[in-house]
Amino acid sequence: MNISRQVNLQPFNSLGIEVYADYFSQINNLQDLAAARCFCQQHGLPWLLIGGGSNLVLTDDFAGLVMLMAWQGRQLVTCAELHFPTQSAPHIGYWQVAAGENWDDFVAFSIEQQYFGLQNLSLIPGTVGAAPIQNIGAYGADIAQVLQEVQVYDFANDQVFYLTAADCQLAYRDSVFKRRTDWIVTQVTFALSCVPQVNVGYGDIAKHLQQVIKQAPDTASPQQVREAVIAIRQSKLPNPDDIPNVGSFFKNPIVTATQYRQLLQEWPQLVAYPQADGAYKLAAGWLIDQLGWKGHRANAVGVHENQALVLIREPHGTAGGKEIMQLAEAIKANVQQVFAVDLQVEPRVVGAQGKI
Ligand code: EPU
Repeated sequence: MNISRQVNLQPFNSLGIEVYADYFSQINNLQDLAAARCFCQQHGLPWLLIGGGSNLVLTDDFAGLVMLMAWQGRQLVTCAELHFPTQSAPHIGYWQVAAGENWDDFVAFSIEQQYFGLQNLSLIPGTVGAAPIQNIGAYGADIAQVLQEVQVYDFANDQVFYLTAADCQLAYRDSVFKRRTDWIVTQVTFALSCVPQVNVGYGDIAKHLQQVIKQAPDTASPQQVREAVIAIRQSKLPNPDDIPNVGSFFKNPIVTATQYRQLLQEWPQLVAYPQADGAYKLAAGWLIDQLGWKGHRANAVGVHENQALVLIREPHGTAGGKEIMQLAEAIKANVQQVFAVDLQVEPRVVGAQGKI
């Protein structure tokens, strides 16, 4: 394992923030992780693992070791080869994928190989290892529907172990990994179907298939659903390569039915989704949009003009993570003041010593 000094992290975070890591190394296997752990222990350093850096706000130079998860590999295994062997299901293929693989490359590859189930999650930035951490979800699907098991490296104890999908405690933009911050996801196994099944329940997908691809939604192929999702994402969400961003900056807040009804009286246009337990998930983008933040610009940061939930950093500006967080705090305070709703920041915010 090579360790470099004073490495600029700008290429490794989708906000393009220029901060420096005291030490930096790439992780390609378990030996690299074990060596990195020894190094941090010997020198008493904090550590930070970065995947695609697409859900990360860096507010300072990092006074420790940054590890870039670069581990590659994809293999199809049988149900008997799983860590938790399962009953044979002839139409399911189990794909074991290393954490450093690019997420969307794997989605494209799986469809090419005729294994289906990831098409609604097309074009989400980031790596495979990050997928279970925030339970990535979009366009009516999330990782919970296809996750089989996860291999984990415990950085505190130098141990490798496996979790079932249930052990991961997946919930909306949440998992056990948000609480066990010493656990590093090293490999993810997906159960994908050889039978083409599509999920076109999300309104925009059906509309795009009918109007643009000219295909009846129920008979669309997974590849056509992938194309629809890509087109919808590209029309709404800025490409981080052009406009630095981390996707949705806040989670959609969940409120009680009582709070929802009170809000609805004052705001009849409120956009909300009923949850199985009777609560309501509010569209945070709608709340922020109502307050006039869309298109806002100041201090070389701002709010995207098509999606109020996406904060952006001006491409060639000098803004760092602190300016982004100041804007986020101002939006959060405004939403609290007007709607009495607490917005939670979605990306990881990391300072000089680690998570803030
Ligand atoms: N809306 C507005 N104004 C806006 C933005 C949204 O009024 O500026 C309203 C619209 O009524 C719209 C509704 O909010 O119909 C929902 O917006 P959208 O469909 O864009 O979805 P979202 O709730 O803002 C979530 C995920 C996205 C995911 C989309 C599609 C979260 C935090 N975000 O966004 O995930 O792509 O649904 O499924 O749950 C991400 O996490 O980075 C991300 C992009």
